[in-house]
Amino acid sequence: MAGMNENGRETYMHGHHPVVVDEHARRSAKRNAAHLLPHLTSGMSLIDIGCGPGSITAGLAKAIGPGQAVGVDTSETALARARANADDAEIKNLEYQIADAYDLPFSDGSFEAAHIHQVLQHLSKPKRALQEAVRVLAPGGVIGITEVDWGTAVFWPRTSATDRFLEIYNEVAIRNGGDPNIGRRLRSMLEPLGLERMEIGALAWSFGDAETTAQWGDLWWSRIQESNIATVATETGISTSEELAEVGADLHEWGQAPDAFFSMTHGQALGWK
Ligand SMILES: C[S@@+](CC[C@H](N)C(=O)[O-])C[C@H]1O[C@@H](n2cnc3c(N)ncnc32)[C@H](O)[C@@H]1O
Repeated sequence: MAGMNENGRETYMHGHHPVVVDEHARRSAKRNAAHLLPHLTSGMSLIDIGCGPGSITAGLAKAIGPGQAVGVDTSETALARARANADDAEIKNLEYQIADAYDLPFSDGSFEAAHIHQVLQHLSKPKRALQEAVRVLAPGGVIGITEVDWGTAVFWPRTSATDRFLEIYNEVAIRNGGDPNIGRRLRSMLEPLGLERMEIGALAWSFGDAETTAQWGDLWWSRIQESNIATVATETGISTSEELAEVGADLHEWGQAPDAFFSMTHGQALGWK
């Protein structure tokens, strides 16, 4: 059963603690939506569903300017950050609004492009959200999706802490109603939606130098203790605060190792309606 908040909405597994939102805000269209960018042209309309703090949305908006971009998310915290970033960058063709991926407040065929990045993995009904995204896409429009596949995550050196971290992450994600390996299912979920054409591929994230492995180790050191993951893990008995502190400290150690390496694949899809 999916975690629910007081509004009857599913709870976003990571929550919106600054350590989570700060990391999302480092993303960019160039790095995270490189598959979609070549298909965006000036004047298009675009929706970014589950846009978070909007650092990717801003890059997509620039690509379609003066066309209008809309970022939607269920979190006011994330959207406040997104609006502030767009104001600072003086991006005029971008607006943000609260909306649920299951029930977008737009009529059929409203957008010539749609984007989803790391959202479906958190939903108990990802196929319904995809159907809704395709509904608001205009005939001929393009959708670009990127979703993680934690089942492909590799830590070297492999330790009992890196193994336990992956176990805890997996169990929390599933307990919250999501699928941490959803990246491999994009073709399968899109196939019944009657798109004209699809291109399915994968994107690898890898960290193999002192700076990036230290960042990755420390990110999870903080996140498994301070974000919503810690709350779900401890409240459901998946782990304890003591174990999370130990695993976190070991991930920090892992990130400092001179031979540390991490990689993980993300499923990526493009579809044309
Ligand atoms: C991992 S973050 C990704 C944010 C952004 N796409 C990025 O990659 O930086 C997932 C986002 O999905 C949002 N979200 C979760 N459930 C949602 C829903 N049902 N409708 C819209 N957004 C949702 C969360 O609030 C969160 O901001």
